[in-house]
Parts: sequence; structure tokens; C-alpha cells
Amino acid sequence: MSSIKVIGGGKLKGETRIQGSKNAALPIIAATVLNKGVTILRNCPKILDVFYMINVLKELGCVTTWEGNTLIVDTTTISSSKVSESSVQKMRSSILFLGALLGRNHEVSIAYPGGCSIGKRPIDFHLDSIKRMNVNQVFLGEDKGIIHCQTDKIIGTDIFLKFPSVGATQNVILTAVLSEGATRIFNAAREPEILELCSFLISAGARICGKGTAFIEVEGVGKLHDVEYTLSPDRIVAGTYMAAVAAVGGEAILLDTPIRQIESVIRVLDKIGCNIKETDEYLKISSYKRLLPYNILKTQPYPGFPTDMQSQLMTVLCLSDGRSTIIEEIFESRFQNIGELTKMGAKITNTKNKAVISGVGHFEGAIVKAHDLRAGAALVIAGIAAQGDTIVREATSIERGYEDICRDLNSLGANVRYCSDNIL
Ligand code: UD1
Repeated sequence: MSSIKVIGGGKLKGETRIQGSKNAALPIIAATVLNKGVTILRNCPKILDVFYMINVLKELGCVTTWEGNTLIVDTTTISSSKVSESSVQKMRSSILFLGALLGRNHEVSIAYPGGCSIGKRPIDFHLDSIKRMNVNQVFLGEDKGIIHCQTDKIIGTDIFLKFPSVGATQNVILTAVLSEGATRIFNAAREPEILELCSFLISAGARICGKGTAFIEVEGVGKLHDVEYTLSPDRIVAGTYMAAVAAVGGEAILLDTPIRQIESVIRVLDKIGCNIKETDEYLKISSYKRLLPYNILKTQPYPGFPTDMQSQLMTVLCLSDGRSTIIEEIFESRFQNIGELTKMGAKITNTKNKAVISGVGHFEGAIVKAHDLRAGAALVIAGIAAQGDTIVREATSIERGYEDICRDLNSLGANVRYCSDNIL
């Protein structure tokens, strides 16, 4: 099943529960390696990216089991420090095993991850920082594409990140947990997923101060212990379904929405005319009139507007009553939906990292392609808002981050289903 068929038209109305967070789950799954024992992760989303991370754990010799949405990882039997090239190709986040395996085995061999559809995505901050922690690095293989890192002991030090990279902050934390001495990270990323990695590690016995701030201090400990941890709901999935209501119109109740984590998204949707009500149990969003444009929407590191919500908001703003500008500050190739939305009738001009959108009255159904996870979700939303049917091809990338986008959107009143690519 690699396409999604969307029957457009009609307003949304319904209720859905937000799944566990992908970007919290991935680093925490890597982090399980630091504990020689058993980790129990509750509310773990059953998505492709999590399955890819589990495959890496299996390659290393770990045993994993599922009980509903609870993932149980036993790392006692780890027998390898090697992450295969095919795993890294499937899954960039497998680079998080760099820090985790260094901590566990003082050694790791991992393929250099290439770019992906949203940008070049270098890992220089990861490697430069880890080198400063007394870790030797050599590049092996014909094209020097394998990074081999080794150390007698990891020694804590001061790390200054040029940019608050999420992955680099996570890799430094993972490397530092079982080190000697203290590691201080200056200009650390402040994304909720960093806070969550720290909370998980602290509950497993790590010593970390400053979680959720730009200054994090990790004091190395001798070992971690078994732990049970419940993952937060996914802020981007919640934001995606809010964007669906904004674009299509109607109302929805989203249970388990991490409201504090998506304030920047709520602010934008509120400003363009959506009605948002927050309670302790749920978030309710409604939208019954044509939305206003948004002057300049710029993606930024947290707590700014997330790049992972940019495509979904582009869909929404295409249908607003006027001219909006989006500036993508994080990833250089994250405007590939412009061509797809244009097929559906959108009016967008683009220079470098700036897209100027002139709102149109409606989308027309079309055959479009999901270039990446969030872009794909944004096209499904566009399809629901469109007149006529839409086929979103290469929709497997959506399954990397959404447990079942069709189930969720259908429970909000949409008419969306997976289908094979041979549908036409
Ligand atoms: C993580 C998220 C991703 C989100 C992104 C930004 C996960 C699994 N992924 O990705 O969903 O879109 O944060 O919020 O949590 N950079 C460098 N050198 C480096 C590292 C990064 O130049 O060594 C640059 C990147 O090319 C990019 C920017 O820094 O332009 C941000 O990247 P980073 O924060 O590292 O994103 P990821 O951790 O890859």
C-alpha cells in the first residue's frame, strides 16, 4: 500500500486521540542501549521510523517485544557496535546510536548518513563535539563512508554548538551520560524532545541539569538502571490535525494534545481565524469561515514555529483570503510541496527559502507525490479540502511518522484510505 486516496469535500467533525511522539521515541530507543538491562517504553508509536530503530537494536543483539503500544527492550545481550549502512540509509536517526553505543561499548562503527529529501543534513556538529570528548574518529571504506569511533574513556568537556541542533544535542547527551566528569552544552537545542530524552535518562539514573534550556550539564555516572517510561503525545501529529481542521473547516476534539509544546502553532492558527479552546483533557479547534492570510511565517528552533509544521501550514495558507509569506530557516529543501500544491490549483511563487502564497478559493483534486513525511501529510489535508478526488503517491513516507493517518482523519469525518499504487 503506497498511495492514499482522498475523497474531497465536506467539513470535518469528530474526535481523535494523539499518538505517542516520534521524535521523543527515536532518541529514547537509542538511549536504551546505555542501560545493560530492560527498558519499558509506554505509549510508543507503531510507526515505520520506530520499526527501523528496533531493527538496529536487533542488529546489535538486543531483544525487543511489543505489548500493545508498550515497547520492551532488553539490551543485556548486545554483541555488536556496528550499525549497518542499510539501516542508516533507511533511517537518518540511527545516527543517534553513535553516542549511545560509544557510552555503552566505547566503540561504534556507523555509516555516514547522506542528505535526504528535506536537505543536506550534515553531522559535523555531532562529530566535532564527540571528538572533543576524547573520542578518536577514523573514516573507513572505499569512499570513507564509515565512521569508526573509539575511546578508552569518554571525558566530559565544554561543548559550544554553533546552531542549536536537535540531533547534535541528543548525541552529546547520550555520549556524556556514562562519561568521566561533566559535560556542559552551550546553545543546546530546547525542543521538547530534548527535555524528554533528559527526563528519561534521569529516571534511569543519569545526572543532568538544565533540561529544556539552552545550557545543559551532564555529569557522568557509572551505570544506568532498568526503567519504565511513558512517552509524551506527538506535538506535530496534533498540529497536523489542527491544520486539517483549519484548511477544511469544521471542528475537532484532539485528546492527549501536548498543548504547551505547540503554542507557536496555536498562536498562528488563532491569528488567522481558528477558534481554539484548551482544557486539561483535550484541545478543541473549530474553523467555520475563510481564514485570514499570515504576513510572515518563519520556521525557527523551538520555541519558534517548527519546520515540521511548515508544509501543513502552507496547505492552510493556500486557502486563506490574501497573501502570506513563509520563510523556511531550518532545512533548505523543504519547499517541494509547492509543485504538488500548484497541481491542485495553489498560487505560490518561490525564491530560495521564501514562498509567497496568494490564497485561492479552493483546491482541485489531483495526483500528487509525497516528497517527505510532513509534506505528504500536508497533501492529504489539501486533498480533504479539495473538490474531487486526490491520490497521494509514495505515501509510505507518511507512515514513518503517523501510526494511521487515515484512521485518525476518518474519525474526524474525512474520507481517506490507503490504496495500492496500481489504482490508476
Ligand atoms: C530533528 C527532528 C526533525 C526536525 C529537526 C528540526 C528528530 C528525529 N528529527 O532533526 O523532525 O525537523 O530536528 O527541528 O528529532 N545541522 C548542521 N550540522 C549538524 C547538525 C545539524 O549543519 O551537525 C543543521 C541541519 O542541516 C539543519 C539544522 O542544523 O539545517 C537543524 O538540524 P537539527 O536540529 O540537527 O535536526 P535533526 O536533529 O536532524
